[in-house]
Amino acid sequence: MHAAVAPKPPPRRKGGDSSSSSSSSSSSSVSSGGYHADVLRGDAVCGGRVLEKRLSCGGFGDVWSLMAPHKREVVKFISAAEGREISDAERELEALRACAHPNCMELLASERVGSNIAIAMPRAERSLHEAMPMEAREVFAAGRDLLAGLAHVHAKGYVHGDLKPENVMLVGGRAVIADFGTAFLEGQPATPHGMTVEYSALESALSFGRTTRASDVWSAAMTLWEAATARRLIETTWDAA
Ligand SMILES: Nc1ncnc2c1ncn2[C@@H]1O[C@H](COP(=O)(O)OP(=O)(O)O)[C@@H](O)[C@H]1O
Ligand SMILES: [Mg+2]
Repeated sequence: MHAAVAPKPPPRRKGGDSSSSSSSSSSSSVSSGGYHADVLRGDAVCGGRVLEKRLSCGGFGDVWSLMAPHKREVVKFISAAEGREISDAERELEALRACAHPNCMELLASERVGSNIAIAMPRAERSLHEAMPMEAREVFAAGRDLLAGLAHVHAKGYVHGDLKPENVMLVGGRAVIADFGTAFLEGQPATPHGMTVEYSALESALSFGRTTRASDVWSAAMTLWEAATARRLIETTWDAA
């Protein structure tokens, strides 16, 4: 039913590409650090939102902060780079749209920009990863929010596929599920890139990253355990060979 997908290597520590982005005037480039969208500081996208600084570059896109009056928002460029089709980027957008809920990242606007889909969303204060260690009451509140969001994602027929502390963000004091880049409608082929192995259920790890609603629940539990303890329950070593 689902295409087998390869587990992701351990999560990179993100939040930092400021070296090249703070006064970014460079044009597009592809580096080992990830794909860089073909956009510049000062470009306007998604209805006049002006790009300020690249906050993060992942394997499939960049996240930018915005100039006033959109300081409380960001724009993520989901790329079709590295063999990824534009339809994969569109699928992430569609999942985000379909899963609209107070505990899922809000889609404010979107637009196709070259080979990217640009999506505007609220700027999170921090991720759960950055919020650690958290007090018990904070973990309880985040857990309530995370599970409410996840129940909604599942009710909409989606599997998130990569729940982890980096992908649960705090927006206005609420925990919201973010990063729908691995999300897929149950019964349809999974995305070509899979979950993060430390947070994956055993059956997912043993099936080359096949994620399910049940494995999402496992990943949510791993996420909350880590939020409560500031330690991963399961550590792996990743052999890049
Ligand atoms: N709404 C947001 N507000 C603030 N930072 C964000 C937001 N969305 C993403 N980021 C930052 O960008 C990083 C990558 O975004 P994410 O959607 O998780 O994509 P991916 O992990 O696939 O690269 C996050 O880990 C976070 O640091
Ligand atoms: Mg992510």
